Amino acid sequence: MSWQAQVVTLYPEMFPGPLGVSLAGRAMEGGRWGLEAIQLRDFAEDRHRTVDDTPAGGGPGMVLKVDVLARAVDAARARLPGAPVLALTPRGPLLTQKRVRELAAGPGVTLLCGRFEGFDERIFEGRGVEPVSIGDYILSGGETAALVLLDACVRLLDGVMGAASSGVEESFESGLLEYPHYTRPAVWEGHAIPEVLTSGDHGKVEAWRKRKAFEDTRLWRPDLLTD
Ligand code: ADE
Repeated sequence: MSWQAQVVTLYPEMFPGPLGVSLAGRAMEGGRWGLEAIQLRDFAEDRHRTVDDTPAGGGPGMVLKVDVLARAVDAARARLPGAPVLALTPRGPLLTQKRVRELAAGPGVTLLCGRFEGFDERIFEGRGVEPVSIGDYILSGGETAALVLLDACVRLLDGVMGAASSGVEESFESGLLEYPHYTRPAVWEGHAIPEVLTSGDHGKVEAWRKRKAFEDTRLWRPDLLTD
């Protein structure tokens, strides 16, 4: 069985979107992974196919209804048993490369995409749904976040990236940002490639890269050094 993604959304036409081209697209065509976009509205039971309602306690926006979400989750779980169910929401813990690796190693994922003000909170405990955020900013919906999560998983699947997918030298795999890269020309608009990289001394290159990874992490992402 190949790795399977199910995405529950009000906008199934947003999938596979960018994941239908390039690396992920070729892997999908090759059968290495599959994606099914599921229309949340199909799980509404009233004449108007209502999926949302006004927030309890008042306030702006609308909230996705827990009964509709639960029916969608139950159907998705029946189709893909054993796959974790995640909801994309800025109220969740941040997605990490560690969690991405775990997800990519499993059978697949079911993703719930929020719109409006978000999900009725009871879906999380009531159906064992895991909230996850892709960053400290607010998107107009969970769909683009789902695409990000899937991209991060699919590139790690066996055979998708070839040799490069061992990924051990990538940013975050070591807890640091990756070292910087350069290629020809040797001098561009007066900026030269660091001399050590053209020295041919592999030991020195290795040491320089380690030092730069640490320095750049301290400069741009000091939080990675203290967490
Ligand atoms: N939906 C809206 N904003 C989001 C975010 N930052 N991460 C995941 N889902 C979201």
